[in-house]
Amino acid sequence: MALGKLMKKKIYNLIDKKNKSKIVSLTAYSKNIASILDDFCDLILVGDSLGSVLYNYKSTRAVTLNAMIEHSKSVRMGIKKSLMVVDMPHNTYRTSKEALKNAKKIISKTKCDAVKLEGGKKIFEIVKTLVRNNITVMGHLGVLPQSAKNFKFKGKKISERNKILNEAKLLESAGVFSMVLECVESSLAKKITKNINIPTIGIGASNNCDGQVLVTDDLIGLNPINVRFVKKYSNIRNEIIKAVRNYSREVKNKKFPLKKHSY
Ligand code: KIV
Repeated sequence: MALGKLMKKKIYNLIDKKNKSKIVSLTAYSKNIASILDDFCDLILVGDSLGSVLYNYKSTRAVTLNAMIEHSKSVRMGIKKSLMVVDMPHNTYRTSKEALKNAKKIISKTKCDAVKLEGGKKIFEIVKTLVRNNITVMGHLGVLPQSAKNFKFKGKKISERNKILNEAKLLESAGVFSMVLECVESSLAKKITKNINIPTIGIGASNNCDGQVLVTDDLIGLNPINVRFVKKYSNIRNEIIKAVRNYSREVKNKKFPLKKHSY
């Protein structure tokens, strides 16, 4: 099957899951992790969260297009079947022209299936331009890390609830195939999910969404953060500590390398 057709089929399959089965999604920043996730995920996101998780940036605003492209090239090598989505970093989609140029660059260099942009009304025309140019776009509403002043959940005030619901409908009409809802209050997430025909993928937005996404480094307990919406499914830091402690001990005691490890 031609690459374009295969990609479209993957997108339709994902949309088709709405109201049928939950969509599983996680982030990956490199090949080895992506190759593990690929068997279990519908969608793998190269998130610009890599800025804080890997580079210790204060915000994702410092993430560059080049960094996203290089990490995505690595992730691409680990994915066989999942849909691969790449975040467009801050200041790479301020105008339709800029967005189109940069989205094309991301897609041609990384062979990803889609790009993700944060925002609602502000990016309506931009999303429409990308979609018109055959670029597959994912939306992102609720807490928007690229522009957020704080990370408080969204949907407390009526005006905020109406704004997010309207923006979800607007993004759908602009042609996004799915959208992330980040830190959106449960009943609002439910309302949005019911009122649009494309899948919502929640992070800190309850199980009322069509699917879930988490930052893999958080879920495996590699990234030492504690936030309400993260469940740690393992403590991989402890496993690494054990392995490195043993290695260190064996090097010091001359137990590694042995003859069988030598040439
Ligand atoms: O950057 C990211 O990893 C994301 C997810 C948290 C949805 O946007």
